[in-house]
This record gives sequence, C-alpha cells and structure tokens, in this order.
Amino acid sequence: MKHILSAKQFSRIDLEYLMSEARKMDTILDKWGNRMFDEKIMATLFYEPSTRTRLSFESAMMRLGGKVISETDITFSSQSKGEILGDTIRIVSGYADIITIRSKNTGDALLASQYSRVPVINAGDGSGEHPTQALLDLYTISKDFPGIFTGEKLKVTFVWDLRYGRTVHSLSLLLRNFPNVSLSFVAPENLNLPEQYRTEKDIFSDVLSDELLSSTDVIYMTRVQKERFPDTESYDAVKDAFIFDTTTVEKMKSNAILMHPLPRVNEIILDVDNLPQARYFEQARNGVPMRMALIKYCLEQQ
Ligand code: NCD
Repeated sequence: MKHILSAKQFSRIDLEYLMSEARKMDTILDKWGNRMFDEKIMATLFYEPSTRTRLSFESAMMRLGGKVISETDITFSSQSKGEILGDTIRIVSGYADIITIRSKNTGDALLASQYSRVPVINAGDGSGEHPTQALLDLYTISKDFPGIFTGEKLKVTFVWDLRYGRTVHSLSLLLRNFPNVSLSFVAPENLNLPEQYRTEKDIFSDVLSDELLSSTDVIYMTRVQKERFPDTESYDAVKDAFIFDTTTVEKMKSNAILMHPLPRVNEIILDVDNLPQARYFEQARNGVPMRMALIKYCLEQQ
C-alpha cells in the first residue's frame, strides 16, 4: 500500500516519474481526466483550516471521476466526543478508498497510516511536514527551471518562518535529491530551520541581503505561523520582519521566481502580483494536476 507521509520517502526516480505524471494530468485537466477512478471515494479529514489543499485534492479526485466525503471541522467529528484518531481512521478506511488528513499534531498522518486499510496522504501535520505541497512546489520550479533535472545549478532561498513552516521542511527534504541545488535559509534566529532538516552545505542568515536577493533563482517566501507560537508577544516581535514589495522584487534576477505556499497575510504586497517574478497563484493552481498524479500513484498500486 502506498501512503504519502513524508518528503523523505521519494527518490530522484520517484520524483521524475511524478513530475511527468503531473505534466500528463495538466494536459487532460480541463477535459475532466479519463474518469479512471469513477468507482473510488476519497475521504478528506481536515482538522486544521485549509482552502487550497483540501479543495485541490477534492477537485483532483473529481476530475479523475472519483467522489469525495469529508470532515472539515474537528468540533463536528466524533473526536470531539473523545474518539481516538486510530478509531476514526479504522472506520473511515471502511468508507473510502483513499484518505487525506490534515491535523495539528506532528506524526498524526503516520499514526493514521498504521490503522488504515487504504492509502493515507499527509496533507499537513502540525509543524511537521506537508509533502504534497512540496511536490507541487517542485513541479512549479521545474516548469521555470527544467534544468533542475539535468544537473543545472539552481539557488533556492527560503524566507521567514522556517521553524514552524511545514511546507519548507518538506520542500527542503525533496530538494536534497538534487546535488546541483544550493539552499539558503533566511529567518530570525529563533525561527530558522530545525536541526533535523539541515545539512552542512546550507547557508543561514537573519537578513535577506541584496547580494542573496540578486543571485537567487527561486525565493520561497512564507507566512509566519501565528497559530503555532506559544504566545502573542513572541509573534508580535517578528510579525513584520520581512515584507516583499516591488522594490524588493526588482532586486531579483529578471528570470528568478517568487513562490509562496499561501495564504499570504501581509508579507507580499499586492502590487507584486503583477510582476513577472510572481509565481504563487500559478503554484496554487499546480496543486490540481500534481494531486491528480498522486491519487493515481496511490490508487493504481491497489
Ligand atoms: C500552508 C500550510 O497549510 O502549511 N498552506 C498550504 O497548504 N498551501 C502554508 C501556511 O499555512 O502558511
């Protein structure tokens, strides 16, 4: 059974396969796929807020002909009566052929996979990982920089909440498959990348220098994960540390791209949306073909 739990599970060969599958899905997307899964049901269990991830999974499943059942608020789940996650998963895996789960506890997706009779996809587990976002991020990068797969050098810089930002954890893990990609991490010291995701070659800084800005191919901006801070004072102390406006973006290379998993709060000014480097809306759109490819990857093994 194929679960998707961590970006660590993917080899370079898996990534090449998934990117080519996503490219194929992109071409059939508005033709409603080939309805290859019209006998399958997906359960989306989202116990944390979501717009893009849940809706793009549901859209992906429906474009493949499948159906969706969902639980989107833990207060309406039997878990609020005290049911343990393992029991919920045992039950739901009798109702659906594939489960996507988002929760606030790191490790919940792995736990769910241990109780499930069907594939489980981690759609974000607290401040742990978000592997399917990382795959759509890689797909987005590979559209602008196809040379990433043929050994061309690429410089990626992650900015801001790298401690709690699960998308950063997963994407940095995926990019370890590419020795030609160098990674820089810019964040206030207490929000920088957790030790377990670091390597010796990485560059760390608490300022985004003009030199870094102008030599980077991909800037991966993030939101400060307010909900994961222990108190409001520590959030208020950093909340406006990095803001991208048009002046900042004009310092980037003309063919560089600015990504963001979204939602943005105020860290990218709206004027930036019209600049050629802005890639975040296209990035979000890429979630549908990538997730169609992932559903196929999980279900065709059955
Ligand atoms: C991210 C998440 O939920 O981790 N959003 C997403 O899935 N696109 C990023 C965030 O919430 O900041």
